Amino acid sequence: MFNRIRNFVIIAHIDHGKSTLADRLLEITGTVEKRKMREQFLDMHPLEREKGITIKMQPVRMRYGFCGEEFILNLIDTPGHVDFSYEVSRALAAVEGAVLLVDATQGVQAQTIANLHLAQREGLLVIPAINKIDLPSADLGNTAKEISELLGVLPEAILNVSAKTGAGVEDLLRAIIEKVPAPLHEKEISSYFSALVFDSIYDPYQGVVAYIRVMEGSIAKNAKIKFLATGATGEVLEVGTFLPWRTPVASCGAGEIGYIATGMKEPEKVRVGDTVVLLASGPGDPLPGYREPAPMVYASVFPENQDAYELLRESLKKLKLNDAALTFEPEEASALGRGFRAGFLGMLHMEIISERLRREYNLNLVFTSPSVSFRVRIRSGEDRMVYAASRLPESHLIESIEEPRASVEIVTPSRFLGILTTLINDHEGRIEETTSLTGDRMLIKFRAPLREIIIDFYDRLKSVSNGFASMAYEMAGWSHADLVRLDLLVAGEKVSALAEIVPREKSYMVARERVAKLKEILPRELFAVALQAEVEGRVIARETISALKKDVTGYLYGGDRTRKMKLWKKQQKGKKKLKEMGHVEIPPDVFLKMLKK
Ligand code: GTP
Repeated sequence: MFNRIRNFVIIAHIDHGKSTLADRLLEITGTVEKRKMREQFLDMHPLEREKGITIKMQPVRMRYGFCGEEFILNLIDTPGHVDFSYEVSRALAAVEGAVLLVDATQGVQAQTIANLHLAQREGLLVIPAINKIDLPSADLGNTAKEISELLGVLPEAILNVSAKTGAGVEDLLRAIIEKVPAPLHEKEISSYFSALVFDSIYDPYQGVVAYIRVMEGSIAKNAKIKFLATGATGEVLEVGTFLPWRTPVASCGAGEIGYIATGMKEPEKVRVGDTVVLLASGPGDPLPGYREPAPMVYASVFPENQDAYELLRESLKKLKLNDAALTFEPEEASALGRGFRAGFLGMLHMEIISERLRREYNLNLVFTSPSVSFRVRIRSGEDRMVYAASRLPESHLIESIEEPRASVEIVTPSRFLGILTTLINDHEGRIEETTSLTGDRMLIKFRAPLREIIIDFYDRLKSVSNGFASMAYEMAGWSHADLVRLDLLVAGEKVSALAEIVPREKSYMVARERVAKLKEILPRELFAVALQAEVEGRVIARETISALKKDVTGYLYGGDRTRKMKLWKKQQKGKKKLKEMGHVEIPPDVFLKMLKK
């Protein structure tokens, strides 16, 4: 049995056809009946279907007869967008092989290279395949050349498939069976059980359901189990595999991919990357888990209605269960009430989380400006991590600030080199290397502050290159930076949710932009409202929103002008008083509008 299991993933740049290929595999292996088939079957989340992208990995078990024997093929479909490479890295640790899929009309892209490196680091067997060969614009020759250079294989060794028509897909299945190694089997009949938790979800009836790759021994219903990292113990309510729906089986043995329902109600007790063993088997060695995912951007999130604070906390906990990269901690109370400071892998990740909170938990939320984290050395010698501008200490207390840097790779047709160089310079980037690729394309490597890359670099890259350039990035250490806190004051009051950390040399420019924008969107009051931008106690930009005028003399007809004067004076006095009390309520949508830079 054991050597008839194959565990593999499909990796590719976004939109190169992973989910469509998975559809054909489900069909050919008869895992999903044809009449139940729909496109991108494994993209089960409504948001995935709507946006046409994969955000969650999805395991599925298939059976396939080959050479008179039946094989079990466990596939994990993974996302392609750079924000989700952590999902990919987790799936890679649970398998032995990877199909590297490249779109014949696009060629090798940045995320193809990045995902390939991840797979090679895990020591996986890589099977290269060219997809979309049915399209008239497919360029098989150049794509094969690029892949062969990248992998050091002969172009003839690369399979050609069309995930849409199914051409070549059976050959690919056979290659998977022949080439991907069966899971290591020395420990097949061990009495010791251990499994890697590579994902988990929360089910209202079954509690925490852990997705596992069994490494040794086997597990069945009613077994008493223990999670090594958290120390949590429990009992297995159900063991099953993915067909692709969760389907109970009697037991799940070494080399297999499946799930265990634990009945646990506390999501935090089951951590992705943890090792699960039998309670009776003593302390046990943890399996090599995953590196902790490092959030790249942070933002504060507040419920529009403060009564929803507890609901927000519970919802974040549940989302975190199958999205280990999401982090959050309570945020100090502010103008927006009580909320959380949350960490995300990137802007798409943040958008997905905010959408899921809105749809699945019915929460209306306000997010503050996203920012990276900073390492601040205080003059007293203490080091402090700062995730929000409002928490940056006064500048006279700061000895130095360090910020995270990103190492970025762009693949682009060479004709965009000039405009991309300008874009990179504008984002404080320093180009380290440019290499020519096959087919008049280039690979550009550069480093830049992470804060410049994370927010809108991807969108600008796509827009200046008409969608042709692609990128991948990872964090690459820390460096000193001359940064200051930019505060915005409305009617003399600091609005902490609008504070930002910006490079000193850009502070004047940003300050002017922010007050001008605020002037545009803040509703007028009955009194004039001063808008100021302040750095290190100095106002460096200001605007005034003029007062709304109310006609207080309209009902007077003709007569003595002194009566009008009297009323105007009274109005002025009132306004002065208002201004003294001068508190301006800032509507939540103003924060949202300020975010859209
Ligand atoms: P992400 O999950 O977002 O990374 O995308 P993906 O790699 O899963 O790509 P997906 O399967 O969603 O395919 C992207 C688009 O390419 C869809 O519109 C597919 O219909 C189309 N497509 C995929 N494979 C083929 C193919 O072989 N031929 C043609 N003509 N179109 C294809």
